[in-house]
Amino acid sequence: MLTSLRAGPVRKKGGRARRDGNGGPAAEPRRSAGEGVPGPKGGSVDEPWVVLKFGGTSVASVAGWRTIAGEAAARAQERRVVVVCSALAGVTDLLERAVTAARTGGEGEDLARVGRVHADLAAAAGLDPAGPALEPVRVALEEAGRLVQGVWLTGEAPPRLVARLLAIGELAATRLGVAILESLGLRARWLDARDLLRSAPRPLDADERRYLAATVPSERAPERLAAVAGDARVVITQGFIARTPEGDTCLLGRGGSDTSASLLAALAGAEALEIWTDVPGLFTADPREVPAARLIRSIGYREARELASLGAKVLHPPCLDPAARHGIPVHIRCTPHPEMAGTRIEGESEAQPAVTAVTCRRGGTLLSLSTVAMWDTPGFLARFFAPFEELGISVDLVGTSEAAISVTLDSLPGGVEGRVFKRLLAGLGELGEVRVIHPCAVVSIVGRRIRATLGEIAPALTAFQERPVHLISNSAEDLNLSFVVDEEEGTPLVRRLHDLLFAARGDDPRLGPTWERLRGAPAPAPAALWWERRRGDLLALAGDGRARYVYDLATVRERARRLRRHLPAVSRFYYSMKANPHPAILDALSAEGFGIECVSIHEVEAARDRLGSGAPLLFTPNFCPVDEYRRAAALGAELTIDGAQLCEDDPALLRDRGVAVRLDPGWGAGHHEKVRTGGPGSKFGLPPEELEGLRAALETAGARIVGLHAHLGSGILEPGAWPALARLLASLAAKAGGALRWIDLGGGLGVPERPGQPELDLDAVEAGLAPIAAALPGVELRLEPGRYAVAEAGVLLVPVTQVRRKARTVFVGVATGMNSLIRPALYGAWHPIVNLTRHPAAPDLFAQVVGPICESGDVLGRDRWLASPAPGDVLLIGNAGAYGHAMASHYNLRPPAEEVVLS
Ligand code: LLP
Repeated sequence: MLTSLRAGPVRKKGGRARRDGNGGPAAEPRRSAGEGVPGPKGGSVDEPWVVLKFGGTSVASVAGWRTIAGEAAARAQERRVVVVCSALAGVTDLLERAVTAARTGGEGEDLARVGRVHADLAAAAGLDPAGPALEPVRVALEEAGRLVQGVWLTGEAPPRLVARLLAIGELAATRLGVAILESLGLRARWLDARDLLRSAPRPLDADERRYLAATVPSERAPERLAAVAGDARVVITQGFIARTPEGDTCLLGRGGSDTSASLLAALAGAEALEIWTDVPGLFTADPREVPAARLIRSIGYREARELASLGAKVLHPPCLDPAARHGIPVHIRCTPHPEMAGTRIEGESEAQPAVTAVTCRRGGTLLSLSTVAMWDTPGFLARFFAPFEELGISVDLVGTSEAAISVTLDSLPGGVEGRVFKRLLAGLGELGEVRVIHPCAVVSIVGRRIRATLGEIAPALTAFQERPVHLISNSAEDLNLSFVVDEEEGTPLVRRLHDLLFAARGDDPRLGPTWERLRGAPAPAPAALWWERRRGDLLALAGDGRARYVYDLATVRERARRLRRHLPAVSRFYYSMKANPHPAILDALSAEGFGIECVSIHEVEAARDRLGSGAPLLFTPNFCPVDEYRRAAALGAELTIDGAQLCEDDPALLRDRGVAVRLDPGWGAGHHEKVRTGGPGSKFGLPPEELEGLRAALETAGARIVGLHAHLGSGILEPGAWPALARLLASLAAKAGGALRWIDLGGGLGVPERPGQPELDLDAVEAGLAPIAAALPGVELRLEPGRYAVAEAGVLLVPVTQVRRKARTVFVGVATGMNSLIRPALYGAWHPIVNLTRHPAAPDLFAQVVGPICESGDVLGRDRWLASPAPGDVLLIGNAGAYGHAMASHYNLRPPAEEVVLS
């Protein structure tokens, strides 16, 4: 048994020895590279390498090792593979505790537990713990016993010895790994990472830094790897450890295995570095705090490094530098879920400004020095920073003014009670008055070109209301905006900020599913649960294997009533029929008192045909032929124009007519850039400064302005959008002339798309609109909702045709695709999908839901958890009542799903 080896508690044997000046009881044994199970033949010197790094949790289970074996073997088909491993989960902590206990003369159980952890894994892998394959593991663990004994005898644990002891975690894990891989049919050659990575301490480095947080410069030297790898296709080596120039073991700091892997990738000139961990990638916030945090699918090196150093625990911050310097793409993968796409880190960040994440680092210290001596004193900052350099304390954020300087420190050797900090305070005390706030938290909004995102960030800053902020700092590289707050404020602030910055964020191709969804938490059902009550009817409808849109008129009516009830400041609603022109829906909304907003003559004709001459119609086209205006006017629709063209083309049509003018408010909003309709680049609307000119042209033609109109975009969840627009249009009322009767704020009212998105707060919209309406007597407010009335009332039922796995990806094929629902392909839109046949069974398969159209963009749902889909099952795609069938096509000559109405 491994547990019976000398990895157990230290036994008293006589008194303590005097301290060994070299810090260790025995000279460090050197290992030659290439020990262990020899690798398979066939690696040639110029073949490219890939480096796969597996963390402590990944290497602590047989399932993890199966993934390691599978992934390494797959890569080894075409590349040579370096597998870099951490110690088994928990082992480094146990070794550290063993040192602490031994130093105070204790006899902890920790070393025995280290032995058991390895023995248990060996046994679970079906290996004989006493067999010859595990001899190297036993040797490593015995050395741990000897080293701890040395600490116990001397009462001292110098960093040099601690480094040797902690390194045993990685050494033993990789020794055991070779044996497990062999048992799984993969031969891997064991290498000692210390023969490959050499630290470069600075002369002033304290021993703590030299041995326990060493810096290893990155270099490209594939020949060094080739020399020790021999002809092995797969080699396995340790993260975390390296050698000093003197040949002693040193460590790269806790979490340093990622950095080892990156250094080894640089050394090998590898094509790629994969970091396999127990989470599916980098997220927009720490998922333990914010379950609605979203996966970041792709990110640049600099942003990723910023995230790592600002608190994202997935990566060791310095690990990206070697990969970035040598242009090696880094891919974060999830060991328990190799089918998940993970996060890709490569290239320089795109130029476009973006907010990528919210992070929080706790346990920091804020130190402020104030003194009038700073005024006009050249070199004062140099004097301020001198003691930091002397004491090896690195500074994080800095803020300066004429008479004060504040800095934050996130790693303080010995903590705030320690000797080093006391010396720092004494040194700074000579320069002025020093104030310390500890513990504090640094909450950061991370992204690229953050200064250019201030407009976007602005509303989220309300999160800081009533919360003291000690320092604000914008990184010089413009990668973060950071706020130093009291530590207990950290978590609530991160949650609030994330909510404000991301919950309403529509599609962003860089972002993937939320953490909750990736973990397989059941998808919150599509917001309208009518389909659960009608599940039997729906399954019967889809029983013939054909896809169908199904609309529930009761839900349409309910949404119309909800709008009326919550928005009394709005005098009239016009349903924007482009969202869904189904006759039954026009009937239902007309019966609820809605007029119809039309964008083409065809919509005007369809609405007139269906609803008769009494129905109020608005005609709000864009760049349409003049003939359409004539025909629409003849059918009694109110005309909206956005330029003077009609005055030239058909002044007679305008004579004695009241028309509305569509204005460009100068900004837009909405779930995707393709549906934001304001701003200088957008083709819609008249710039407000041209309003008076257009009014004069209309008056010349004998027309008057009766309405002002503007539409910001579609899928807006921010309630302030419509009041802001109303304020703008109200401010232009005087310029429109005395005939103005109405102000139309367009549509755009959004419904939650992704899980976790808030509902549009109609009461907040009303609170913003009511005072504006009151200040405009005789002018009515109008809205033109499309989506809000119908989105949740519709579902698309799609029978499953096939379930197929290709490499790691599972595809669930369904009977129709982007020809029926183009929104996912066009906008990256997210529609909830459930397996209606199995509903409410828990989802258990992570898959891509795809249609039969000949484009790889034909994906209806990316990264979805579904309950055991099988051919013949019916999937329900929610939120499909708006812009679903209305945008369908016969692409590939495939007829789109037919429509069915439930009354
Ligand atoms: N009024 C005007 C002048 C519009 O242009 C629109 C939509 C609306 C009202 C109705 O907007 P709603 O309340 O539905 O957001 N195909 C895209 C949406 C395009 C919207 C175009 N205009 C989508 O699937 O998201």
